[in-house]
Amino acid sequence: MTIIEETAGVPAPRAGGEASGPLLEVRDLHVEFHTRDGVAKAVNGVNYSVASGETLAVLGESGSGKSVTAQAIMGILDMPPGKIPHGQILFRGQDMLTMSNDERRKIRGRKIAMIFQDALSSLNPVLSVGYQLGEMFRVHQGLSKKEAKAKSIELMDKVKIPAAKARVGDYPHQFSGGMRQRIMIAMALALEPDLIIADEPTTALDVTVQAQVMDLLAELQREYNMGLILITHDLGVVADVADKIAVMYAGRIVETAPVHELYKRPAHPYTRGLLDSIPRLDQKGQELYAIKGLPPNLLKIPTGCAFNPRCPKADDICRTEIPALVPVTEQDGSELPGRGSACHFWKETIHG
Ligand SMILES: Nc1ncnc2c1ncn2[C@@H]1O[C@H](COP(=O)(O)OP(=O)(O)OP(=O)(O)O)[C@@H](O)[C@H]1O
Ligand SMILES: [Mg+2]
Repeated sequence: MTIIEETAGVPAPRAGGEASGPLLEVRDLHVEFHTRDGVAKAVNGVNYSVASGETLAVLGESGSGKSVTAQAIMGILDMPPGKIPHGQILFRGQDMLTMSNDERRKIRGRKIAMIFQDALSSLNPVLSVGYQLGEMFRVHQGLSKKEAKAKSIELMDKVKIPAAKARVGDYPHQFSGGMRQRIMIAMALALEPDLIIADEPTTALDVTVQAQVMDLLAELQREYNMGLILITHDLGVVADVADKIAVMYAGRIVETAPVHELYKRPAHPYTRGLLDSIPRLDQKGQELYAIKGLPPNLLKIPTGCAFNPRCPKADDICRTEIPALVPVTEQDGSELPGRGSACHFWKETIHG
């Protein structure tokens, strides 16, 4: 049985001249939180990667470790109580967990930027958006106040904020939720990072605005040829923008696949459950499917496959042996690039 070492598999970087290999690669990452009640194992051996110009969507129910993995990449984990007992976070092949603070600082915040769900709490309410955007240029690039203001207006135009020139002095609360999220995107773009991590960037917005903000993000990502890690629990959001998906459950990747293949033929019962829970127009009036039970308590993850208590396919082996993430193949054994499943019964799930 070969364990998938890296989940790159799917499309090589599109633009020419890129160094080969992934931009960011997370290898066997473990994160635990030492609490009064015990050790919560939030991330239990995550492997994923993203290349320049590529979008990786990370999907999973609440508490599956999506944000904690991102926080580990950005270096913003609460430590303590958080701890990284094992793993590597490679940026262009260099492990950020072992490099010097100086080297790390050059990458985080500059080469990697993050967009959070809640713009209102990420922006300072008593400073104008122009000031906050401009600060990026003044502090990091040493631009004058006037130059920084001009750059801020340029960026606000770029993220399609109407009347940018007139609004550059406005405060965060004077913008709508969607516009604030555009400002967050502008801040993330300011230093032209190689990678953006967007953690539920549209969850707080209503559905039409969600789609607009997501389209904007996808458009800019293509234009700048950035890597994008898009964290969400909304399968509907990712179909149009992602190249590949990693599905997380209880701190592990349980399935990886190019986006359209995952929708067509899931190879893990958990993914199938998530797909079956999406409301569909042609099933109006019918009761919506829900995966039974709840995600596990991370202080006491079930033995074997963590999903086994909720899984319709679970058998004895699922209660005793943790399934490794293995390559998924066609029935005749031919390769399915980029596909992997951590299920003892992946064959039945995808081909059955
Ligand atoms: N500072 C902390 N101290 C203790 N436990 C924490 C801390 N931060 C996160 N956790 C735990 O780690 C687990 C994973 O959390 P994480 O935020 O990564 O989930 P998520 O997949 O992003 O979920 P959601 O979809 O709700 O955002 C959770 O059970 C959470 O309680
Ligand atoms: Mg989260």
